[in-house]
Amino acid sequence: MTLTLVHLPETIRWQDGDLYLLDQTQLPLATVVEKQATVEQVWQAIKQLKVRGAPAIGIAGAYGLVLSVKHQTHLPYSAFLLELERQAAYLDSARPTAVNLKWALTRIVNKARQLPDLAVPEIYRRLVEEAVQIHDEDRRLCRQIGEHGLTLIQPNMGILTHCNAGSLATSELGTALAPMYLAHEQGIPFRVYADETRPLLQGSRLTSWELQQAGIDVTLICDNMAAHMMSQGLVDLVIVGADRVAANGDVANKIGTLGVAILAHHFNLPFYVACPYSTIDFAAPDGKSIVIEERSEAEVTHFGDRRTAPENIQYRNPAFDITSHTLVTGLITDKGIIRPPYGENLERFYG
Ligand code: MRU
Repeated sequence: MTLTLVHLPETIRWQDGDLYLLDQTQLPLATVVEKQATVEQVWQAIKQLKVRGAPAIGIAGAYGLVLSVKHQTHLPYSAFLLELERQAAYLDSARPTAVNLKWALTRIVNKARQLPDLAVPEIYRRLVEEAVQIHDEDRRLCRQIGEHGLTLIQPNMGILTHCNAGSLATSELGTALAPMYLAHEQGIPFRVYADETRPLLQGSRLTSWELQQAGIDVTLICDNMAAHMMSQGLVDLVIVGADRVAANGDVANKIGTLGVAILAHHFNLPFYVACPYSTIDFAAPDGKSIVIEERSEAEVTHFGDRRTAPENIQYRNPAFDITSHTLVTGLITDKGIIRPPYGENLERFYG
């Protein structure tokens, strides 16, 4: 059995000095790739979730930052650096929760800070190289996560996942879906239950689509069906991704993840979170210190273009929630599976 990911379009492509992003808002109905002409366009693409998923917005942010200074290489070094820092802050403002965005932008800015003696066009070239390296590194990290997570998948398991932490959210295998792709490659039979993930339906539009494309046995369920599936003994394992993991192991991930974790605890099911090191934020001591993005009214009051709520209704739209580390069985990382006590073990693996 071979991995059939080749059928998936590339989420992010840097080609001949230009950035191309797959517009994920149009999936699975249309595969539209947009060339990014300006940094404002990249900001909008991140804000509107045309590119989404923590690692992918980090990679897109890095390329977007490079793009923002593409025509500024005539500036003296100090002015170039100032402009780079300004654009990094601008891009970082697109979405607050996934730390990968800030991490990647900081990495590009730091690269420029390390090269004060080079000519600015050469610095620009090095920044492009750094962004490409972030992109390439993500492929490797996802595969390592996949290899460690593969050890958890036994034949005929039912695996539940929430949101999309797959190929579309990264540069290749994904994080939560990486063990599933590798298990499928090895011919291990298993079934995935994909939560649809209201309000923006990343589970139905993206996860069920990409797993189906890869030939993996996937069943789409509405979010409120997860408890029932678990009660029927259909789920043996939960794997989700993360947007930020705090130093104590608390996890910020797509809204609804906390509910899934509580359900898994109730039904005594293992609940794993897959993430690369770039998602771990030692500056956040715990989940309370993570900013949760609040999104617009229409995502809640409408289903697609159709209004489903009364006019003038009060609403809330937090895009993420925090799952306490006490509900997490393990963190599947690029360096291995980290288990409690998280504070101590995260420090030991990555500190
Ligand atoms: O709002 P989104 O679609 O960017 O949210 C994505 C998630 O919550 C993913 O689970 C997370 O970013 C991990 S992606 C490997």
